[in-house]
Amino acid sequence: MKKIIAGNWKMNTTKAEAVALASDLAQKIANVSADAQMILCPPHAWLSLVGDTIANSAVALGGQDCHTAEKGAFTGNVSAPMLKDVGCQYVIVGHSERRQYCSETNELVKTKAEAALKNGLIPIICVGETEAERTSGQHEASVGKQLAESLPDDANIIVAYEPVWAIGTGKTATNDDVAAMHAFIRAQVSQQVKGGQSIPLLYGGSVKGANAKDILAIQDVNGVLVGGASLQADEFLSIAEAA
Ligand code: PGA
Repeated sequence: MKKIIAGNWKMNTTKAEAVALASDLAQKIANVSADAQMILCPPHAWLSLVGDTIANSAVALGGQDCHTAEKGAFTGNVSAPMLKDVGCQYVIVGHSERRQYCSETNELVKTKAEAALKNGLIPIICVGETEAERTSGQHEASVGKQLAESLPDDANIIVAYEPVWAIGTGKTATNDDVAAMHAFIRAQVSQQVKGGQSIPLLYGGSVKGANAKDILAIQDVNGVLVGGASLQADEFLSIAEAA
């Protein structure tokens, strides 16, 4: 299985920066690794431009979120059919920032993932415990509940484990913690989802060139979801190289 190297640009980049970054990556990825599937998830405003920039390259396009409905009076939202129409193959749903700042529940995340699947997109469904849950030993219970309630019963999904305390903080989980959580998640999705043995599991949270190789070598880590380090072409390419 190719390692998935997904970049979540969040609400960053100007139009010019987005095009420059995407074109740099699209040109250089060819020389990097055939074992890596690179996915870019730029802000929705730049999807069309970035899509044009990476057309005919090995880089794929993804959205950062989608609405549950196909269309309608939902000011400010983007639907799964729109993402498909603009050339996306993937969409992130349930990122912890959306769970936290937009009060997204597991049930809502599952409905979004179902909308993505129905429209031919692969949802990258994010789960992860908070720092308080980790220190009180509740991390498996928390992630287990998120998996149980956020995942549709469909093998065509990707799960991203992102401990909330490791996102954008420079703190990464130890390799042992990542290994333990990925084993836990693999066991649960194998029971819960038909074909769950082969669903790609990504790790996210302060991944960078310097730690990518060790993280990608862990059993059941099938790729990474990268925030900050995906905004610099060379740093992001060095993560792909580690694959
Ligand atoms: P980070 O973000 O790499 O900046 O920690 C990861 C994410 O939020 O997906």
